[in-house]
Amino acid sequence: MSEYPLPQYLDQVDSTHTHIKQQLLDGNYTEQAVWAKEQTAGRGRLGRTWLSPQGGLYISLCTTLSDCPPTWFGFAMGLAAQRVLSEYAPRITLKWPNDLLAQSAENAEEQKLGGILAELVSGITPEPYAIIGLGANINTQITLTDTTNAIPPTSLYELTHSEHPVQAIAEAITREAFREFTRLKNTGMPLSERRDLLLQKWESVSSTIGKHVRVHAHGQPVQGKVLGLTEDFALRLETVHQGIQIVQAGDCFHLRVQH
Ligand code: BTN
Repeated sequence: MSEYPLPQYLDQVDSTHTHIKQQLLDGNYTEQAVWAKEQTAGRGRLGRTWLSPQGGLYISLCTTLSDCPPTWFGFAMGLAAQRVLSEYAPRITLKWPNDLLAQSAENAEEQKLGGILAELVSGITPEPYAIIGLGANINTQITLTDTTNAIPPTSLYELTHSEHPVQAIAEAITREAFREFTRLKNTGMPLSERRDLLLQKWESVSSTIGKHVRVHAHGQPVQGKVLGLTEDFALRLETVHQGIQIVQAGDCFHLRVQH
């Protein structure tokens, strides 16, 4: 038997994220995972809707934090998903802060394969929990809508021209994610070492590092070359007119033209 919880399967749910949160509100204080064949009210980052038709992968996990900042678990989920999905298609990378990208061929444009949503639940449970959700396009046929301001979407099906086992992928990502969470929460190792390991692993599979990017945060967009991540997983940018800038959050776009 696996030492980690297997994801509970639901045919249809409003949102796996909302479902897990409700479990915690109902007093089910355990680490748990759920995956659904489709969502009717999937939630994306920054209050967006996450379209969730059948054929996609929709999972959410929750974990206690130990001594870790909650954001670390979103990055750890990215690692788990990148690792597992790379068994099905080549050139899958992570884009800061929480996207899975794929390239259909060498030098081809990057496309969005999935995204991660991380949320903190505290004050209403005996101890805080992080809920981390992953949505990924697996056997989804992509119908292109207006993508003027967004990264064009893709799916494993579009990339490989074949269907893939969503349940096996859901189980493998859940196992990998809980494994990463356990490593993060291992207080036998100093917190700074656990953080550095996570940073190192994340940067090694990220396509954001070294790229020229534009980040839309609250105020003006910031543009520059990504030097790396800071200790709290913010972007460290070298800009043309404003020197080194640190960007904590926002929508990040990889620029095609590299200055
Ligand atoms: C993004 O905006 O890129 C993140 C999308 C995260 C979607 C997933 S699907 C499973 C989980 N349940 C939700 O309602 N949202 C997350």
